[in-house]
Amino acid sequence: MAMTPAPGYGIVAKLLHWLIFALLAVQYTIGSIMPHIGRNSLDEGWVAWHFSVGAAILFFIVIRLVWRLLHPVPLLPTMESWETRLSGITHWALYLLIVVMTLLGWAATNARGWQVKLFGIIPLPALAPKDSSWGHAAGDVHNVLVYVLLAFIGLHVVGALYHYFIKRDAVAARMFFSSGRD
Ligand code: HEM
Ligand code: HEM
Repeated sequence: MAMTPAPGYGIVAKLLHWLIFALLAVQYTIGSIMPHIGRNSLDEGWVAWHFSVGAAILFFIVIRLVWRLLHPVPLLPTMESWETRLSGITHWALYLLIVVMTLLGWAATNARGWQVKLFGIIPLPALAPKDSSWGHAAGDVHNVLVYVLLAFIGLHVVGALYHYFIKRDAVAARMFFSSGRD
């Protein structure tokens, strides 16, 4: 009896996965080289880029989540139960953290009296009033979640490398473009 291959990620899911990976790499770079955002900061240069790239990340992660919910992809059945549990938790933590931290960054931007523009052009409504204490608190939590998200990305990448180099199973290839299963 011929084996039916497990369903894999389609081209849209793959493109969105790697687009968001690239945007996050850019965003972490900007976040570390931009001047610290404080009372005397200006909404220009790297700081303005941080808001535009961040809004783009939120835009694409929402599209990705909707796409994911409409096109569910089961984890590979060859994985051990602890691997399935850990990768399931990690994937949903990544989605949740990206959505929550971009929303908090947006609110923090408004609390400093600035407007967030999607792709630097489309003005977005304010989530928090100027000078609101919760908007500033959102910025503090945002600054902490920067590291929590990084830790989950690290765990996820270690997992992908473990499947590719140690277990040598088909998991990592599911997110590559060359797997021939688009
Ligand atoms: C997942 C995407 C994001 C990442 C990885 C990220 C990363 C960072 C980093 C590294 C910092 C510097 C923290 C520090 O100085 O200690 C920061 C601060 C900040 N980010 Fe983001 N950011 C993201 C999304 C956003 C978005 C979408 C916005 C707004 C539209 C935003 C607005 C801010 C603001 C206002 C601060 C200063 C917070 C404060 O101290 O009040 N960020 N972010
Ligand atoms: C910013 C960094 C990254 C984020 C936020 C991220 C996020 C995600 C998420 C949320 C999923 C789950 C997809 C779903 O089923 O809905 C996923 C799957 C996957 N990612 Fe990433 N990823 C990142 C970087 C990487 C890197 C660098 C690699 C490779 C070294 C990688 C390899 C994979 C693989 C192989 C899968 C599919 C796992 C499976 O088939 O069960 N990811 N990623």
